[in-house]
Amino acid sequence: MANLIGGVATSHIPAIGGAIHKGIQQEPYWKPFFDGFPPIREWLHAKKPDVLVIFYNDHGLNFFLDKMPTFAVGAAQQYVNSDEGWGIPSLEPLRGEVDLSWHLINTLIDKEFDVVSCQEMLVDHACSLPLKLLYPEGNYPVTVVPVCINTVQFPLPKASRVYALGKAVGQAIADWNSSKTVAVIASGGLSHQLDGERAGFINKEFDLQFMDSLLTNPEWATQFSIHELVEKTGTQGVELLMWLAMRAALTAGAGAGVRKVHSNYHIPISNTATGLLALEKTAY
Ligand code: DHB
Ligand code: FE
Repeated sequence: MANLIGGVATSHIPAIGGAIHKGIQQEPYWKPFFDGFPPIREWLHAKKPDVLVIFYNDHGLNFFLDKMPTFAVGAAQQYVNSDEGWGIPSLEPLRGEVDLSWHLINTLIDKEFDVVSCQEMLVDHACSLPLKLLYPEGNYPVTVVPVCINTVQFPLPKASRVYALGKAVGQAIADWNSSKTVAVIASGGLSHQLDGERAGFINKEFDLQFMDSLLTNPEWATQFSIHELVEKTGTQGVELLMWLAMRAALTAGAGAGVRKVHSNYHIPISNTATGLLALEKTAY
């Protein structure tokens, strides 16, 4: 059976790719964000996962507003990043873990999560940036399975449904007939609103409470409706659902607990409160 070791949740913002491209990670604006990553890279280097299952939301590169699946799972040999505008170069393609993709798709549909399966799938900054942040030297030593959750166009899946999905994904990983080591990634959040009357809205108190809840009371955020989450975190802050899915996935497999490997929280990058959290599964 596969070995599920833990997870990493991070905010994503296209401009991060621009900062990496320009090599300005140590400039004062960017340093507090990039400084969060070295301890997590060290942990990954020690644990050496073979496969990353990535919860993320597509922002219009692969799914536009005309076709918006609630949940979609990649089943491709390779996932290509493409021009998203802003003059930011595309990141390198990600290698797929096709056997786990189909195992996840079959298991999820059997458990009545009617996911869309995608044998071709472009991946935007939300899916490709975490890899670049975690393995900045490139030539990624991992394969991936992207799991896309709609947080872009209403109606959005409820927090409780996303938690259940995450749990089912974790269980499927733990049951996967493979000797490989797997980690789960969440890409999104934390509080931010990019447009409308509340553009620039950030809620530090809620963000920190949410991050803390993932350690102390993982289902805490499922008490909120989507509209309450938008009110508390902004229209794009609902991307924190990815973090919830990641945490839920870690309830599966051997060991019931998690320990914090490292966390970081910084305001702002662009209009976003950026969060970072790595959790390792523990025996109790
Ligand atoms: C921005 C884009 C995002 O997808 C996001 O989640 C946060 C910020 C941005 O362009 O600033
Ligand atoms: Fe986003």
